[in-house]
Amino acid sequence: MEDNLMNNNFEGEVYHPAQAIIDEAHIKDYEYLYKMSIDNPEKFWSERAEEFYWSKKWDKVLDDSNPPFYQWFTNAKTNIVYNCIDRHLKTWRRNKLALIWEGEGGDVKTYSYFSLNREVIKFANVLKSMGVQKGDIVTIYMPRIPELIFAMLACAKIGAAHSVVYGGFSVDALAGRIEDAESKVLITADGGWLRGSIVPLKGIVDEAIARQGTIEHVVVVKRTGQEVHMAPGRDYYYHDLCELPVMNQNCETEMVDSEDMLFILYTSGTTGKPKGIVHTHGGYMVYTATTLKYVFDLKDEDRYWCAADPGWITGHSYIVYGPLLNGATSFMYEGAPNFPYPNRWWKMIEKYGISILYTAPTAIRGLMRFGNAWANRHDLSSLRLLGSVGEPINPEAWKWYFNVIGRGKCPIMDTWWQTETGGFMITPIPITPLKPGSATKPFFGIDVDVVDNDGKPVPAGEEGNLVIKKPWPAMLRTIYKDPERYVSQYWSTFKNMYQAGDSARKDKDGYIWVIGRLDDVIKVSGYRLGTAEIESALVSHNAVAEAAVIGLPHEVRGNTIHAYVLLRAGIDGNDALAEDLKKHVGHEIGPIAKPEKITFVDVLPKTRSGKIMRRLLKARALGLPEGDKSTLEE
Ligand code: WTA
Repeated sequence: MEDNLMNNNFEGEVYHPAQAIIDEAHIKDYEYLYKMSIDNPEKFWSERAEEFYWSKKWDKVLDDSNPPFYQWFTNAKTNIVYNCIDRHLKTWRRNKLALIWEGEGGDVKTYSYFSLNREVIKFANVLKSMGVQKGDIVTIYMPRIPELIFAMLACAKIGAAHSVVYGGFSVDALAGRIEDAESKVLITADGGWLRGSIVPLKGIVDEAIARQGTIEHVVVVKRTGQEVHMAPGRDYYYHDLCELPVMNQNCETEMVDSEDMLFILYTSGTTGKPKGIVHTHGGYMVYTATTLKYVFDLKDEDRYWCAADPGWITGHSYIVYGPLLNGATSFMYEGAPNFPYPNRWWKMIEKYGISILYTAPTAIRGLMRFGNAWANRHDLSSLRLLGSVGEPINPEAWKWYFNVIGRGKCPIMDTWWQTETGGFMITPIPITPLKPGSATKPFFGIDVDVVDNDGKPVPAGEEGNLVIKKPWPAMLRTIYKDPERYVSQYWSTFKNMYQAGDSARKDKDGYIWVIGRLDDVIKVSGYRLGTAEIESALVSHNAVAEAAVIGLPHEVRGNTIHAYVLLRAGIDGNDALAEDLKKHVGHEIGPIAKPEKITFVDVLPKTRSGKIMRRLLKARALGLPEGDKSTLEE
């Protein structure tokens, strides 16, 4: 491997962006603008908000009269979809490509802003015909196909909210989310392609609906053409509905309040029940658009590819809303990165001239395994910026990404953020000197710190709790139907500070190094899973009495799930049962949640108050000191 780390842009472990990158960047002075944005966030954000269409302007930029229930752009009226689509139709961008999509089998579809609008109108009319109204929550459970994006935008266009459930989740996860959102309408597909096989989404939908009682109608998009069960009077094929001329009539974009709900997205926390994170139209719009524009330096000439799944917050903010708000051309791919060969991604970068690639460390490590030749055979010279998200990127993967994919000339934007934050929080911009493994510095208007358990800043180099000290426009507004949990989870540990749940260090240059989760959340291939969810899936198997789950480091996936299982009396553990339990978890939550290893035990370490000491299980598995055991039950 040619070692570009030795080139003159690198000093020790610091990479200095080339002058050409600085010359073309939107922002050329970080320190000055950062200071201004922190001294007067309302001025900074109102100037950004001015770039969008509002049918009525705000009374206040930030209403902080009832913390932590902050509101942004109060009493303003807009609709994020108006700014994603309608606004562009009045300009030359009407004919610009909004989306280039490639299916796993190689089929290609493209949509201009004009045709995107037509598709979203059709979908919006279909939803209206099913009685979907402002304030309803529509559940979307789809493969990575353009209709997923149309469906999300259609909900928002008519003032309804969407709840996208990642297509990799399974029966129990889907049923729980539908029930919490009380969705009457569900949008799905007859399947999607992954590694040459069909993911049977519709079968999972049928099972999930049988477990809960709110769904009245299911819209099924035809993707694979395979036969699926269609319940008469409940299930409708999308293409059949679109045949009706009325579905093609115009549908105006509804103006909504800045603080009206745009979507909920469920994410794992410390307790078993996933949290419905609530985001709203106005603040989220201004924040996702601004962060994407400044961090990835988005320009009209770019072909931007965020390789995440739209069912994850990264997809919501940086496949769907952020790029469209900026009038960008995005690329989306349906299938697996190494299908049929490990050069699939590199081949598509070459074919479409992708200039910005945003992905996760787990994908980078997964492709790195196949060696350099697969990437070296392709012309990747169109790339100018790279990005990473989801977990800390290890320096080895960073350097491979930088040297082999970026050919030593593309800065890597390592973006730290969360479902709750809506957009990038700690991240470089293209002019930032980079240190491999650090997400570098806070974005404009973001006041971060690392504090001890009493909320006091820790000295440089020491580990502590990552906190955010000022509200920001795309912050979560609450947990759906559970405002108390919102307060206790995020705002109660430290006074007036948002607790991220991550541990971090700040170095002497003010660079932030995120270490990982402090709670019972495990990141597997960048996906967030709660130990409690997996444990409850295990216990729902009739052989299991009790279970404890921990995450252990894994070379490619970051972490994998290890389960300790106590069987019911009279049942013996063996390999066949372990396999069966893995399958059961896969069926209930999804393949990503499947334990890597199951160990049958006679007893689980517990505190005297009955809490499982996962920390102890982890220390033992890793051969580390077991720490304080004073609370351990005899
Ligand atoms: C982790 C994903 C280090 C972190 C957008 C956070 C990261 C959790 C990074 C949120 C990064 C995300 N460096 N850690 N660049 N990005 N994380 O809600 O632990 O799926 O709290 O949002 O991912 O995960 P979520």
